[in-house]
Amino acid sequence: MLYCTHLGTRQLHNAESDIMTITLLQGKRIVLGVTGSIACYKSADLASKLTQAGALVDVILTESAQQFVTSLTFRSVTGRPVYTDMWSHEQHVQHIGLGESADLLIISPATAHTIAKLAHGLADNLLTVTALAARCPVLVAPAMDGGMFQHPAVQANLMLLEQRGVTLAGPAEGRMASGLVGPGRLLETPELIGMIRLALGRDGLLSGKRVLVTTGPTQEPFDPVRYITNRSSGKQGVALAQAALDLGAHVTVIAGPIAEPIPVGAAHVPVQTAMEMHDAVLGRLAAADVLVKVAAVADFRPAIYSEQKIKKTKLSAEAPSIQLARNLDILAAVHTWRAATGKALTVLGFAAETEDVINHGRDKMSRKGMDFIAINDVSAANAGFQSADNQVILLGPDGLQVTIPLQSKAKVAEQIMAHLAAYLNSS
Ligand code: CTP
Repeated sequence: MLYCTHLGTRQLHNAESDIMTITLLQGKRIVLGVTGSIACYKSADLASKLTQAGALVDVILTESAQQFVTSLTFRSVTGRPVYTDMWSHEQHVQHIGLGESADLLIISPATAHTIAKLAHGLADNLLTVTALAARCPVLVAPAMDGGMFQHPAVQANLMLLEQRGVTLAGPAEGRMASGLVGPGRLLETPELIGMIRLALGRDGLLSGKRVLVTTGPTQEPFDPVRYITNRSSGKQGVALAQAALDLGAHVTVIAGPIAEPIPVGAAHVPVQTAMEMHDAVLGRLAAADVLVKVAAVADFRPAIYSEQKIKKTKLSAEAPSIQLARNLDILAAVHTWRAATGKALTVLGFAAETEDVINHGRDKMSRKGMDFIAINDVSAANAGFQSADNQVILLGPDGLQVTIPLQSKAKVAEQIMAHLAAYLNSS
């Protein structure tokens, strides 16, 4: 919800895109342990974003964390009680229940002291008691200054925790509060949320499946500073990669040049041209179960590439023309590869159409050997290229035809992935 002032009238406006709801996080019980580091203030942002995404966040503050931040801060952003070390006997039992019923425990920031206590099973405060009682995935996000992270004692404690199945989230390298630069910075909220999603999704419907996603435009250069490209933002492909990660898949994203960040946990293979994308895809097919082909691959490239920048003085007085050559069709090459190897690979492609969309989409699907096709009517307003939202018609095996109405690309991606996962689990 946000207030906006428009021509002097104040109105409440509830835009779905303002609230980053994440299906995987909806209703999940997340216990967030906060320990005494200057990075504590960042945890309020984490608690807030997780709550906005739909999680139920129970915060435990250690005594030293309360020197930096207050219970009120966290109560205000989570709308839930905040737990500290002041507990009565009944609350103590309730707090052990908190650890047992959590879907995930994240300790962020985790100081060297708390890491040492966790590694050695000490239970001298509410957070460490909860950690011992927790039967869920545990993430530890270290934050410490002054080279402490590299101390052999800290490293040995972290190794112990990892051996017991704890996931370490960071730390990042960079400038710390003291002004020193090195490893010890708390990961930023989007990275922590990415790691939480990985942990919560790991036993999902695509667990063990290897998914290859191509996304973004390709750039076809004709000299070192100029190229032909298209307006694809890569958003829909990135959203599909995230949706596959949320279902537990191993994901590799082959991306043309895009501004969109690659989701946490996905391997990233950056490419520029259609030919590079072709080679990157074909080289990885043998190790993939699913290919999701969202990239807006350029169908043509300049026939001649000039190693030097083309000078206008070298061109004729008339406007110059660029000779184009046909690029390989990557999906057609995948179709040939599948026929030659007989390998089980499920292929989902996209189609950008402006008229008679279902017939053109169905034709493209059979011509290019796809199992699923998501047809984008790119003539529709507020959908498709560069937009935050999309709507598609999904065609698939056994006559599947569903309309996925206009909504965020993340939600469209979740629905497409749900159909794909259902198919893979039934075949
Ligand atoms: N595609 C591909 N290789 C190309 C061109 C497209 O693999 N050289 C893939 C896209 O990633 C998408 C699908 O083919 O999954 C359909 O792309 P689209 O641009 O809709 O269709 P085209 O095959 O290029 O046909 P047309 O432009 O004539 O509609």
